[in-house]
Amino acid sequence: VFTVAILVAAGRGERLGADRPKAFVVLAGRPMLEWSVAALSGQVDEIVVALPPGERAPAGTRGVPGGDTRSHSVANALAASAGDPVLVHDAARPLITPALVRRALDGLGDFDAAIAAAPVSDTIKEVRGDEVVRTLDRAALWAVQTPQVFRRAALAQALAGDLAGATDDAMLVERAGGRVRVIPFPRENLKVTTPVDREIAERLLC
Ligand code: C5P
Repeated sequence: VFTVAILVAAGRGERLGADRPKAFVVLAGRPMLEWSVAALSGQVDEIVVALPPGERAPAGTRGVPGGDTRSHSVANALAASAGDPVLVHDAARPLITPALVRRALDGLGDFDAAIAAAPVSDTIKEVRGDEVVRTLDRAALWAVQTPQVFRRAALAQALAGDLAGATDDAMLVERAGGRVRVIPFPRENLKVTTPVDREIAERLLC
């Protein structure tokens, strides 16, 4: 088994309002993506990083150019490595740990994909305009994170289809009829999107 980790770091991160691409913003003394590299490095055989223009891959990783969307960035990195299984992680989730990486990898079993997720704590409503359409059953709802682990063939097939509107890769595997398993993860494995997320992440990392 040769496991590859794809670290997607090519987004601009406009909602963070920083002076550089989000993954390269310094968080608790390190560029954000380096926290993920540190967590992944002992657990996988190779790390391929999808990069924004003008940025270099961290030591111990291989860089590939990112794409126009997250899915295109994943596809570029997948094409650059022969590893199987394939773990995909967002550089925007710097609170990942080696133990959580291991938990995700061990969770694949005989599924096509295994994805980190936490039960939602808020009540979620479907809204059109400013009017509530309905309230969803919270007990059945999970907020999806990364890592997401895939059999290479399932991910390659999913990425060969229509990528429109895909916010994660597991969604493409679901669309292609694949079986996706949920692995319970802590909410602390949060995604840094806005300035308040950055502040929370920084406190948790210190
Ligand atoms: O924008 P968002 O935080 O949802 O992006 C999730 C991850 O996907 C980030 O780590 C970002 O760098 C990455 N991404 C990418 N290529 C893009 C868009 C996003 O690698 N074109």
